Amino acid sequence: MKGVRPEIARLEQNGITAVAFSRLDDPSVIPFWFGEGDIVTPDFIRDAAKNALDNGETFYVHTRGIKSLRSAIKTYLDDLYSIELDPDRVSIPGSAMLGVTIAAQMALNKGDDALVVSPHWPNIETTYRITGANVNTVRQRETSTGWELSADEIIAAVTPKTRSLFVNSPCNPTGWVMSRTDQQVLLDFCRESNILLIADEVYHRHIFGKNVAPSFLEIAKPDDPLVVVNGFSKAWAMTGWRVGWVVTPISQANHWAIMSECFNTGATVFAQHACIAALEQGEEFVQSLKTQYEQGAAIVIDAFKHHPRIQLAPPRGAFYAFPKITNIDSSLDFAKQLLSAEDVGVAPGYTFGPGNDRHIRICFAQSHERLELGLARILNFIERDDNERRVS
Ligand SMILES: Cc1ncc(COP(=O)(O)O)c(C=O)c1O
Repeated sequence: MKGVRPEIARLEQNGITAVAFSRLDDPSVIPFWFGEGDIVTPDFIRDAAKNALDNGETFYVHTRGIKSLRSAIKTYLDDLYSIELDPDRVSIPGSAMLGVTIAAQMALNKGDDALVVSPHWPNIETTYRITGANVNTVRQRETSTGWELSADEIIAAVTPKTRSLFVNSPCNPTGWVMSRTDQQVLLDFCRESNILLIADEVYHRHIFGKNVAPSFLEIAKPDDPLVVVNGFSKAWAMTGWRVGWVVTPISQANHWAIMSECFNTGATVFAQHACIAALEQGEEFVQSLKTQYEQGAAIVIDAFKHHPRIQLAPPRGAFYAFPKITNIDSSLDFAKQLLSAEDVGVAPGYTFGPGNDRHIRICFAQSHERLELGLARILNFIERDDNERRVS
């Protein structure tokens, strides 16, 4: 590829879009492939965006985000975690994904190592790779009660060249949740070793049986090498709005402005105004999504339990099931064949890191009716496959 440096030329399309792009706008497909539900962003948030437009909010603003939104994020986090955050530590670079990208760009040199807790969302690995870093993974263990990994196991996978570590809890795709004790051990280690910990907490409101997942913000010192990434996509059903935030060490504040200017010069202004409404009036809506998704998890667990070919370590958070289907050769073939035979879109496991080619990821954030229909079709497909194997 001419004019493209090797780290970029080597990149491959991830497995989620490799399956989804062929039938993206096809209404006959039940889409379990992306990380979103089917509920439109609520009226009060959309109205706030419309009002902002009508009020002429169409100009450049501060590249770390408008002050009123940064301050609303600080208040939201303070109330949620009983902390007292310095508002200057909050930046709004654009999406949560952009937050991870900028943090990775700031931390890594070509040839450094980056360590990712896996199974992991593929875009994380891609964004680390474009820095020129080598990406290592440390895999969670699948148990009958859920996915497990201790801080000590993560630390054991760190090399002398590791300069950044990525932890996503609650985890996409496994629903693993890191305990407070493990967070403390890992943060102490990163502080002592000066390794940038990128803590992706976009599923912070999606933990089953509790109001909020443990956050590194509850235990961090203001100058720890820690970037906590979060956003509006998941908890407020705002995936298309592309607004997220980061909480960084105060010493990085100015650099988030500089870096943001190199990407998109901050998040869309009228969307930022809508996000204030989301934070200030959205708690009831957040709770209703949380309940719906928790029930969605129970529906998937119930549909798959005791199935001879499906092993599902139950998720403890986020909104995905990551079952293993025995006797399949390739998760990509499985996902493509399922799509064409049953009009159900799932994400193939291989794209979530090594060791996952017999897994598929199912997003259970869709309405329960669609979820049940899609799961029935998946079970049908596996049954037909069983019958064909018996005959051949
Ligand atoms: C773990 C994780 N981090 C970040 C993101 C991106 O969030 P955003 O839509 O705000 O870019 C996702 C989206 O699926 C995700 O699963």
